[in-house]
Amino acid sequence: MSCPHFDHHEVLGDDERYARYEELRTWQVSRSEASGGFWVLSRYDEVIEALLDWRTYSSAEGVLLPAPVGRRARQVALEQDPPEHTVYRRLYAELLSRPRVRAMQSSIRHTTVACLNRLAHSPGGDFVEQVAAPVPIETLAMLLGLDPEVTAELRQCTVTELSRTHRGDSETTRPAFTLMDLLRAELDKRRAHPREDFVTLLTQQDLPPLAMLSFLVGAVIAGHETTLSAASNLAYQLGREPQLQGRLREDPALIPLAVAESLRHRSPVQNFVRTLTREVEVGEVTMAAGDKVMLLFGAANRDPLHYEAPDRFDIDRYHDGREAGEHLAYGGGVHRCVGAFLAETELHIMVEELLRYELTLHGEPRFVPVTFGAFLAIEELPVSLRAWS
Ligand code: HEM
Repeated sequence: MSCPHFDHHEVLGDDERYARYEELRTWQVSRSEASGGFWVLSRYDEVIEALLDWRTYSSAEGVLLPAPVGRRARQVALEQDPPEHTVYRRLYAELLSRPRVRAMQSSIRHTTVACLNRLAHSPGGDFVEQVAAPVPIETLAMLLGLDPEVTAELRQCTVTELSRTHRGDSETTRPAFTLMDLLRAELDKRRAHPREDFVTLLTQQDLPPLAMLSFLVGAVIAGHETTLSAASNLAYQLGREPQLQGRLREDPALIPLAVAESLRHRSPVQNFVRTLTREVEVGEVTMAAGDKVMLLFGAANRDPLHYEAPDRFDIDRYHDGREAGEHLAYGGGVHRCVGAFLAETELHIMVEELLRYELTLHGEPRFVPVTFGAFLAIEELPVSLRAWS
């Protein structure tokens, strides 16, 4: 078969990326020879079908292609299948439960307001550095029960870790103190001095120490960069469309639609990979057991067979009974994002508070190459905020 060239690590501008996806979608399944070779599912129906069939499309061999350098073990939950997956999924569901997240709403708002206020007083400030990055990490630290000085270190480690991965740095540039070291130290502290917090609860589970560490690293990584990306995309869209700011200010009930549309339109997680446990036929293509299959969420969310004029950012597309939450930005099936309620809570609060200002873009954002070939982010978004009267 002669498929369009596709390498998920290639640095493409937005227009080029979505044009490439359009080519890929002309095939029910296509093939890439990058990263050792893999199949690509890029249409909405095919991606959702694969997501729902975890027995065939296994996560246990990893979801990034190739696996990150220096990775010693699979990420719990994300890179497991049931029944192993279920144990960690339950723990994540407890950490990220609706009552727990609801109880944190006023703290999230407080952090968001403080960040926006600081940004408003630094003209031409960077939205990513001052709002989109700190809010998710501070929220996660609160959820886990970390002390303020540890939260500050966590922020630093996460920034360093992310800029290393954005630059594609190798193991040799690994900093002396990493996110893993910090979280390992927290687990040790709680074992020695238990407290009433989630990290202590984790130490009391009958789990291998490495799995506890993987759980915490997973929460920080999965909850940070994705929400950062979603928050900066939303701010970018509001900056590009001042009339959208006005509409949402007039009718805040539309905010959830704007959040959902942003996740669909520019999905923070562009793809994850599965490994086939058996031979599968899709259309005229036979894929063998052991083959890698990429689920291209970013392309499926722009499938014209599923969404009319999919490249248009349009909150009105949800007015005809179409569910705003049916996009695949959170995946689907047993691995569907367990942090979705937390992410939505953070994003809704952020937009609500942001609308107290008039947001103006100062130049174009700096888009970063797709981290690990999977995560799409904005590295810098220069804006100014002026109090709305
Ligand atoms: C807008 C923000 C977010 C997006 C777009 C997002 C996206 C995703 C996606 C696509 C998956 C599915 C993985 C798969 O099918 O292989 C996932 C899983 C996951 N997400 Fe999120 N996520 C977001 C926020 C969060 C937050 C705030 C947390 C909190 C810690 C979180 C924690 C997780 C975890 C632990 C998993 C693994 C679940 C499992 O395998 O059962 N995510 N996320």
